[in-house]
Amino acid sequence: MKDRIVLAYSGGLDTSVAIGWIADATGAEVIAVAVDVGQGGESLETVRQRALGCGAVEAYVADARDEFANEYCVPTLKANGLYQGHYPLVSAISRPVIVKHLVKAAREFGATTVAHGCTGKGNDQVRFEVGIQTLGPDLKCIAPVRDLALTRDKAIAYAEEKHLPIVTTKKNPYSIDQNVWGRAVETGYLEDIWNAPTKDIYDYTASPEFPPAPDEVTITFVQGVPTALDGVALSPLQVIQELNRRAGAQGVGRIDVVEDRLVGIKSREIYEAPGAMALITAHKHLEDVTIEREHARFKATVGQRWSELVYDGQWFSPLKRALDGFIEDSQQYVSGDIRMTLHGGQAIVNGRRSDTSLYDFSLATYDTGDTFDQSSAKGFIDIWGMASKVASGRDQRVAGE
Ligand code: ARG
Repeated sequence: MKDRIVLAYSGGLDTSVAIGWIADATGAEVIAVAVDVGQGGESLETVRQRALGCGAVEAYVADARDEFANEYCVPTLKANGLYQGHYPLVSAISRPVIVKHLVKAAREFGATTVAHGCTGKGNDQVRFEVGIQTLGPDLKCIAPVRDLALTRDKAIAYAEEKHLPIVTTKKNPYSIDQNVWGRAVETGYLEDIWNAPTKDIYDYTASPEFPPAPDEVTITFVQGVPTALDGVALSPLQVIQELNRRAGAQGVGRIDVVEDRLVGIKSREIYEAPGAMALITAHKHLEDVTIEREHARFKATVGQRWSELVYDGQWFSPLKRALDGFIEDSQQYVSGDIRMTLHGGQAIVNGRRSDTSLYDFSLATYDTGDTFDQSSAKGFIDIWGMASKVASGRDQRVAGE
């Protein structure tokens, strides 16, 4: 029996060509695996037919949108996951769910090897291969673009020569990756980091410069999970989709950054994540009223570390899992409603209510009804400043000697 290889298949030019290219180079049979994480575009059936038309012996297609929303986007939201303070980990969290399906397909079809279409310069190759090593340690990995010299020119020539059922004329200068959590655009004209992105780059967001009338939305959370919009119960996937539409219409969630890739390259990235950014903002504001101060401060550093691990391809690692435990525990009281206005590129919170709030009106008020004992403040401050005061006394004494 021939060796079998499962290929992470997008339906695009490179991975369509990769089917035959891998078969030619290795003599193996190729099984195409397409996973729907809410990237939109063609139906899974169309993608399946194209894979078979390009020479795949089998096509495995999976609608993983709810799985992705519940098990990948929601944990990222609970962590307020933003790599380097900006990037909501759009591509980083989609690779592990694709890996799960690749390994599942490899088992179903008796494959020995997993293939993906990444180049040798990015993070995604690391995320795929580290994930596969972890979930299927016996599986080998190959990357035709990186390991089998499949360049874009060769891909176009190959597709034309073999009459593959794909369109090869339209040359998109950008490398785009998208799913329900957001959209990433890189390369081309953006590689000059002084160049401002042109309008055609955006797809999930309208320009924030000429916004429609402000849109006020109330988001309900139960233990950190978004469960309703404006009082209407929805699944996490539906909440994200609906906020992509509403926040996207207001130009919320456009991000333009230079970030540090794991492989040591600084890279210019344009992201659009209207739903994700609106949700993270709302969630953080609900944590502000429901999580105790020290717990909240520490959680911010945990969330930052969590984001770095996820960015760096460590989704299935022990430390990431341990931090998940901390984050999950922290969400016990993160329940309630956040009201926010979406307008002109911003998502601004203007109301919060929670049955598990730590906000105590009678402690906070400057009006009558104040229960805070101001006379305790003086002694507290004396002791709070004691260590610095003693040190400063020493500094002055030494300087005077
Ligand atoms: N720089 C981002 C990341 O590493 C986005 C990568 C997008 N991938 C792509 N093939 N365009 O997560």
